[in-house]
Amino acid sequence: MKIDIFTFTGTGNTLRASELLGEELYQLGHEVSLHSVKADFVFPGSDADLLVFAYPVHAFNAPKNFLKFLKKIPKGELPVCLLRTSGEPLKLNDASGITPRRILKKKGYFVQAEYSVVMPYNIIFRHSDGMAARMWLDAKIRMKKAASEITEKTVTLCKVGLFRRFVSFVLRIEHVAMPVLGRTFHAGKNCIGCGACVKLCPQNNIRMENGKPKFGGSCVGCMACAFGCPHDAMKISLLNGWRVNGKYDFSGIPATDEEVCSYCKKSYLRYFHETEAEKEAFFLGSNP
Ligand SMILES: Cc1cc2nc3c(=O)[nH]c(=O)nc-3n(C[C@H](O)[C@H](O)[C@H](O)COP(=O)(O)O)c2cc1C
Ligand code: SF4
Ligand code: SF4
Repeated sequence: MKIDIFTFTGTGNTLRASELLGEELYQLGHEVSLHSVKADFVFPGSDADLLVFAYPVHAFNAPKNFLKFLKKIPKGELPVCLLRTSGEPLKLNDASGITPRRILKKKGYFVQAEYSVVMPYNIIFRHSDGMAARMWLDAKIRMKKAASEITEKTVTLCKVGLFRRFVSFVLRIEHVAMPVLGRTFHAGKNCIGCGACVKLCPQNNIRMENGKPKFGGSCVGCMACAFGCPHDAMKISLLNGWRVNGKYDFSGIPATDEEVCSYCKKSYLRYFHETEAEKEAFFLGSNP
């Protein structure tokens, strides 16, 4: 099959997961193209047999710019899959697929599957590198499984009840608040005016003025600027206490069950243990 993967990423997690899925699909003999969804990205048209749309969960919803992108793609009848990353393995995150599914269905597409991968938080608090490594190991297993399910055309959609739909609708804070809040972001005294944040912003929402970054009104709160600033100089207004800065190291030793973070520990353990059987096969070398 020819497969096009369209990814929006703020701080790289969703891109990493997409690349992983792409690699696994390629290993299974598919022809895969990756596309990065940014502010100036226009749907290039596609002669693929299947499309994958990947996004990070923002306040239990798909990011606003990502929904805007989906609304702009032409009508079609292809099968499509959704891939999402989130910082925690809560069921409520599944509600983020409701609007993308509705938009795609309305355009004629057949939504075949949804895949969720937990990756380290880029806001609220910093996961340990051990947690990042364990998430990454789990992501490898999940993306391998997803690739074989895509190949077999397995239909796997998340069931989301009315209560979760309602809660995610009420909590769509990114959609409502970020255009306003994003304007109040600013650089603190550590800023050396390097302009890295300008390049990192997928929304082209930052410009340099008198050697300092200035923010426009199209912020989607992706945290690329705050996360990627080499001097941790970004002040993100009311969210500043939740700022996370600096890349994760995914290559270390995965956290043991005991080392899993105390926040939502039960949910993380349940999530990690879901792939236990596949993990064994992975370590036995049948899935190098
Ligand atoms: C504004 C914002 C809201 C978020 N909301 C959620 C959330 O509701 N649930 C969750 O599990 N993770 C949430 N996260 C965490 C991200 O979904 C997670 O870190 C994701 O992997 C980031 O992907 P990216 O690096 O591709 O941007 C949020 C992150 C941001 C920046
Ligand atoms: S990346 Fe950081 S140091 Fe560089 S201009 Fe932006 S805020 Fe300043
Ligand atoms: S201003 Fe920062 S948080 Fe807002 S969209 Fe740009 S990079 Fe993301």
